[in-house]
Amino acid sequence: MSLFECPSLVWQSFEIPPTTFKQGAQTPIHACHFIHTSDAERLQILAFRNHPATTAWMYNEHISLESHLHFIEQLRHNHNSAYYLFKQADKLLGVGSLTRIHPTHQHAFLGIYKNPDLEHVGGRILDALEFIAFFKMGLHSLHLEVIATNTRAIVFYQNHAYQRAGFLRDFIYRQDNYHDVWLFSKLSPLTPPHKGS
Ligand SMILES: CC(C)(COP(=O)(O)OP(=O)(O)OC[C@H]1O[C@@H](n2cnc3c(N)ncnc32)[C@H](O)[C@@H]1OP(=O)(O)O)[C@@H](O)C(=O)NCCC(=O)NCCS
Repeated sequence: MSLFECPSLVWQSFEIPPTTFKQGAQTPIHACHFIHTSDAERLQILAFRNHPATTAWMYNEHISLESHLHFIEQLRHNHNSAYYLFKQADKLLGVGSLTRIHPTHQHAFLGIYKNPDLEHVGGRILDALEFIAFFKMGLHSLHLEVIATNTRAIVFYQNHAYQRAGFLRDFIYRQDNYHDVWLFSKLSPLTPPHKGS
């Protein structure tokens, strides 16, 4: 099933079986689409997003409660973006998103911010996000932008087989300075690479 055949996949939540993960394999992970989250979970998401360990690496720093709640509501009508709160047993692992989802080219951009109180959960979120993108939506490629000084994220994505694919010089203006951004990408294990690559 692809996004062409089933566009409503963009608004679904997913149960990700434990066998999908290289790490933390005991318990399934629930990817709860933001539009299906409770009021309390929405506040938790905002706390993760506005934590200094997260905002240091985001394009927009602080998000108000009003714009956060409005953002979640507009996702009900958004065909190109899906945001998930990842939960494992009673733990909120963090947030992963697929944006700029393109049903023709079968690509999307991903983003992650973990629960700042938990260590080493990024890999579980990334594995789950890839499961949704490649196995559920049938996408061919995933891409991401990362601020060039975000060494932790760069090491993390390289450890998960993302390859450097481009460079955006002075792409982001924050705190009176321009910042460079790296592009990384990964192809689906399910679709063959094109002939030229
Ligand atoms: C990026 C993020 C998702 C990674 O998840 P995580 O759970 O912290 O990742 P891990 O701990 O599994 O892996 C991080 C790796 O970076 C390494 N690392 C940490 N700090 C580092 C640093 N300053 N320099 C180099 N490597 C560093 C760790 O040792 C680890 O590598 P290893 O597994 O080979 O030991 C998470 O840190 C996060 O949400 N950060 C805030 C938001 C963010 O930056 N998102 C990405 C924007 S594109």
